[in-house]
Amino acid sequence: MTRLDRVEQTRGRLTGPPLTPRTAVIWSVLRAELDRRADDRLTVLDVGGGTGGFAVPLAGAGHRVTVVDASPDALAALTRRAAEAGVADRVHAVQGDGDALAGLVEPASVDLVLCHAVLEVVDDPVPVVSALAAALRPGGAASVLVAGRAAAVLGRAMSGHLDVAAALAADPAGAAGPRDTLRRRYDADRAAALLTAAGLAVEEIHGVRVLADLLPASVADGQQGALVELERALAARPPYRDLAAQLHLFARRPA
Ligand SMILES: C[S@@+](CC[C@H](N)C(=O)[O-])C[C@H]1O[C@@H](n2cnc3c(N)ncnc32)[C@H](O)[C@@H]1O
Repeated sequence: MTRLDRVEQTRGRLTGPPLTPRTAVIWSVLRAELDRRADDRLTVLDVGGGTGGFAVPLAGAGHRVTVVDASPDALAALTRRAAEAGVADRVHAVQGDGDALAGLVEPASVDLVLCHAVLEVVDDPVPVVSALAAALRPGGAASVLVAGRAAAVLGRAMSGHLDVAAALAADPAGAAGPRDTLRRRYDADRAAALLTAAGLAVEEIHGVRVLADLLPASVADGQQGALVELERALAARPPYRDLAAQLHLFARRPA
């Protein structure tokens, strides 16, 4: 039985933020880890956590969350959002670089580290992932979300940009030159190898937004609940998983 299957069975008692096609699969995976540690107040680190889309609900569930982000504007919005949600005392905003965590966070002090939609924009993902692993206590877990290459290739081709699709498919990093908004994109194997090289054991890989970006807004908006269910059903199943706009990896620092 997969983690998502287990969550499906307990869904009636799940609480938390509204589930959207962008977040439902990730929250399902995180919820299983939070349920596993239901008696603990976790120390959470969200690297590149931006305005707190995950940090604030995690703080609302009683966990202590530090958000390290390079953007002062994002951190200001995070601080406002945490105050509005009444969790300011459990959210710590730190301006800093993801690959310099060692100077910002005590090594081996974190139970759960999040790094969502960051590794595709940093200069070099290797030191960032090493820093994530070093911040985790033995047995701690990492939630890593990266851009998927296959979805980008298909998306560019279907919108008529065959030259960009070809460049994305051929480039070792999965980017399409200097005008690309991202520096790299991942296939599941390459993303898993990145985490493994840092000493993390990858436990699960899911696709996020397998379908959401392919549907006309009228369909997606009109059938949000059905779309979330279908995203959940397809997320762990290749080949659907591997065509998702983003890949979510859940990994653990060996105890
Ligand atoms: C695409 S946003 C993702 C925000 C959030 N994690 C999410 O999934 O909604 C990328 C975030 O990473 C931050 N960021 C980019 N490079 C960074 C770096 N080197 N160190 C820390 N944060 C960084 C940006 O400021 C931004 O808030």
